[in-house]
Parts: sequence; structure tokens; C-alpha cells
Amino acid sequence: MQLRHLKYWALLLVSTSITAHGQEQFDPREATVASVHNALYSGESCRNIVSAFLSRIEALDHEHINSIISLDPDSLSIASQQDALFASKNATIGPLFCVPVLLKDNLDTASLPTTSGSLALADSRPSIDAAVVKALKDAGAIILGKTNLQELALEGISVSSLGGQTINPYDADRTPGGSSGGSGASIAASFAVFSLGTDTINSVRSPASANSLFGLRPTRGLVSRAGVVPNSHTQDAVGPIARCVEDLAIALSAIASSQLDPEDNSTALVPEGIRGTDYYRDLASSSLSGKTIGVLETFFDRTMTNETEPVNDALDSMISRLQEAGARVVQIDDPMYNVNAILASCETQRFELRQEVDQYLARASLKGQHPATLQDLYSEGNSYLVLPQQYGFIKAVLKGSTQDLEYEAVLNNIKDLTMHLHDTFKTNHLDAIIYPQQRNLPVRIGAASQHGRNGILAGVTGFPSLALPAGFSSATETAAIGIPIGLELMGLPWTEAKLLQMAHEIQALTQIRKPPVWAGRHIPVRDYATVPSVMPKGANSIPPAYPLGVLL
Ligand SMILES: *[C@@H]1O[C@H](CO)[C@@H](O)[C@H](O)[C@H]1NC(C)=O
Ligand SMILES: *[C@@H]1O[C@H](CO)[C@@H](O)[C@H](O)[C@H]1NC(C)=O
Ligand SMILES: *[C@@H]1O[C@H](CO)[C@@H](O)[C@H](O)[C@H]1NC(C)=O
Repeated sequence: MQLRHLKYWALLLVSTSITAHGQEQFDPREATVASVHNALYSGESCRNIVSAFLSRIEALDHEHINSIISLDPDSLSIASQQDALFASKNATIGPLFCVPVLLKDNLDTASLPTTSGSLALADSRPSIDAAVVKALKDAGAIILGKTNLQELALEGISVSSLGGQTINPYDADRTPGGSSGGSGASIAASFAVFSLGTDTINSVRSPASANSLFGLRPTRGLVSRAGVVPNSHTQDAVGPIARCVEDLAIALSAIASSQLDPEDNSTALVPEGIRGTDYYRDLASSSLSGKTIGVLETFFDRTMTNETEPVNDALDSMISRLQEAGARVVQIDDPMYNVNAILASCETQRFELRQEVDQYLARASLKGQHPATLQDLYSEGNSYLVLPQQYGFIKAVLKGSTQDLEYEAVLNNIKDLTMHLHDTFKTNHLDAIIYPQQRNLPVRIGAASQHGRNGILAGVTGFPSLALPAGFSSATETAAIGIPIGLELMGLPWTEAKLLQMAHEIQALTQIRKPPVWAGRHIPVRDYATVPSVMPKGANSIPPAYPLGVLL
């Protein structure tokens, strides 16, 4: 009792002495890696910085977006350790020192369950961090917690049996894209500095687009997928989502594999001279002037509806801005680039997913209660979420195998498409290709699917693609500043540095990102003794259109 009181008074004294020194309090709204580090060097404690983000999550997440599945109980004690380190060395240790981040809940963490949004995996506990999580921690980042996603990353609406429905922060009637919807919505709301998502077809770029953020799907092999709940080793990628290009570049530099990862053979593909790149240092070293950008005309929906026109207008206006900045724009009108045809001929999840999830679930390092196989996960007695229109797909996945005759044909189709894409870049002397991430606005809550997305081309070819804010629709009754629109800037493999430089200049020229209105609210920083626990809204927030566990 006495001790607790003493501690309480000690805390009060510390916080009054801070204000007595007249320091400006750290403001987490739209915070960046640089602003966090500036705050530390001006005397703010890492513990206060972490507390500021936790206070926002506690005060705002449930009320507005339902983006968080769990909070890491260690974040505050790690922050205090970093404060001690900072005081003794008077220097930040690592490029992400004390930078609070959030992780999609399909990235393994030893300190928290890794659920993929599934009630059946609520107590599935990896004992080893995913390669990207270890890389973030080694760089000094502080993991705040895990974000909601489309269950098992299998669609783009961002609803799950464990987490429930995540809401678009700009329009409470709409979804936040997905599958990494919690990683997008939470960053739009300044619940952390940046997040990580995963991308099998669209899943990093779609929430970046729907939440006025920057998101990068890196070249296949640049970032290790070890410790990611798998969908497809051919298509899976891990990528950062941030509010500015600078932070995207810093995050990528931290997670790009520094050496071959024996747990992910694609990391052997990285060419000489790419490993160890500092993507932040060279951000300003090139210009749009003289660049050639191809516009994929077949990736637009030119029908005139109020859901497509805002997208076309934003992209057309962006293309004019690029030309004004000195870029040469080339129209690419090639029937090979047909999203539905590519989905039908190149998508590999239905062959790879079951075997890879089964291997993931069978690892000795996976502790806690969890189904033994994907089939078990979807068995009676487990509550799970499959969107009704996906029943057929899941049934095919449960039977699918890389032994299927069709699998090899699909891999050959991918090879053909990849060569064709190389050829398009070469013939037209392209530095990048541009197109809308989604041909229409993000769909409403309760919709059958997040239709109209263009991510598959990078998804199957392994080319890098950077999603960035392109504009907003006009305001609507439920979207006070309009609904975000995003574009993709796709490059040749291993040209992340160039894509980031181009995005950096576009960001400076257009300044499109705006925070959601409600996220501007000032939230007083609480003095936490321990990390608060949050519960996602779960089943209560699942729209009636999506029944739980009725597949078999
Ligand atoms: C700590 O480092 C900062 C920035 O490098 C410097 O301005 C300050 O004087 C240093 N403080 C101490 C106590 O050495
Ligand atoms: C790379 O790993 C994947 C999945 O773990 C495996 O299916 C594939 O055969 C491996 N490729 C090579 C060339 O070893
Ligand atoms: C499009 O029109 C429909 C029907 O009038 C309306 O409900 C919807 O909000 C409109 N969408 C936008 C983005 O304005």
C-alpha cells in the first residue's frame, strides 16, 4: 500500500517537473519517425511517447474504427528501458529507436498470440518473432500491438470472427480496404507511427489507398516472409504502411533482409548492391523530370458512376500534375493487362494455401491452443468467418494442392505475364507504371467483396508497387472530407529506391493526405502503470450479411 502511494507520488513529481521545464508535450497526431526522435532529444521520455499513442487507442479505437486486436503488455517496460539507455548514452540506438509501430495480426510475435483474426486461433502463440518483427525490434521500434484484418487475409473487407468489422476512418459507412484494414485505419488515426501489413493480391496497397496512406509491396525476395501466417509463397509479401514517404522508406530499410534468410528461400533472389540500401538517405536525389511513366488504361473503369468518377478524376488530375513536373506519360493499352483474366489464370492461393497453413500450424515453435490443420480450423465447433461468396473458394482451397495438374499451368502463366511486363517496361522505356489501386471507391460495410482492385499484377509477378494518396471524393453525408482515393506506382524488380523518390516528389507536389476529422481530437496522455488491455468488438460488430461458421 505504502509503496504504491510512494510510486504514485514519484510519478506525479516526474510529470510536474517535466511541465515545469516548459517542454512542449509530444503530439502523436500525424507523428513521424523524425518527430518522435526530435521529442526524445528535447527531453520527452519514450514512456510518455508510448503512453500518448496508447491513450489515443484507448480513447478512440472502439468508438470509431475497431482496428486493434491486442496490445503488447511489454511496450511500456521496453520504453522505460529505452529511456534508461538514452539517458546513459545520450543517443538513439537504432534508426527506429522508440518508434511505436503496429503489426497486422498474421505476423508472428512471441509476446502476443498471432490470430489472423480467427477465433479458432485466439490462443495460438508463436514462440519466435517473424523475421520482420525481429528486424523492427533490432532497429529499436516498440511494438504497440496487433491489428485486425480480413480473417486469414482472404478478402479485402477487413472483418474477422475475432476482431469483428474494422471501419473506414473517413466514412463510417465504408470498409477500410484490406485485408490489412486494421493496419491502414489505425495509421490514418495516428495510433502508431507506421504499421506492417501483408499483401498476397492487394492487401497492403488496398488499405493504404482507402485510408489516404503510403503502402509498399516490395519486390519478391526483398523482405523475408518467415513467421507470416502464409497464404501463398508465390504471392505473399510483407510491407509497411505510413503517413509519409519518409517513414515508408525508413521502415523498408529496417525490414529489408540484410542477409539470406534460410526460412524464406525467396530472399536468395536479392541482387548485389541492393542489400543494406538506406532508402531514406537518397529520397531527394532524383526528380520526376525526364521520367517516363506508363498509364495502364485497362486498369480504369471508365463507366460514369458516382463510385468510379471520383477515382478517374483524381487519377487524371494526378497524371496532369506529373506531366507539369516534367514526366513523360505514355498510354499503355494492352489486353494482356486484364485484371479478371489475370486473377483467373495466375492466382496460386487455391493450390498453395492449405499445405502452407498446415505446415505453419504444425511447427513445434507454435504453442498455445490451435487447430492442427486448416481443415480443423473450418470444422464444426470452431467459430470462423467466411464471406458467403467465398464458400466455393474455401472449399477448393481445402482440397487444393501443388500436386494438382493445373498448378504448373498457372505457374507458367505467371512466367508469361512476368516476361510480358518486363517487355512493356523495356519497349516503352518506362521508369514506372501508374494506375488506380481500386477502380471504384472502397465498398460499403456489408458489401459482398472489395471489388475493383488492381493489385494482382504486382501480386503474381513479384514486381514492387507503391500505393499513395491520389485524392478524395467529394464530401458525402457520412464522409465529411470525402473518401480517400489511391494510386499505384509500379516499378521493375529492385527499383524501390526509384519508386520512393518519385513518391517523395509527388507527395511534396500534391500534399493530398489529410487526417480523418475525428482523429484531430486532442487526447490527454494517461500515466499508465501497465499497458491497458483492449478487446476488439468481435462478433457484435460483424454485419448480418456475414454469418459465422456455416461453411460445411
Ligand atoms: C545530448 O545530445 C544532444 C544532441 O546531440 C546535445 O544537444 C546535448 O547537449 C547532449 N546532452 C548531454 C547531457 O550530453
Ligand atoms: C522455396 O520454398 C517454397 C516454400 O517454402 C518451396 O515450395 C519451394 O520448393 C522452394 N524452392 C526452392 C527452389 O527450393
Ligand atoms: C452515389 O449515389 C448513391 C445513390 O444516390 C448514394 O447513396 C451514394 O452515397 C453516392 N456515393 C457517393 C460517393 O457520393
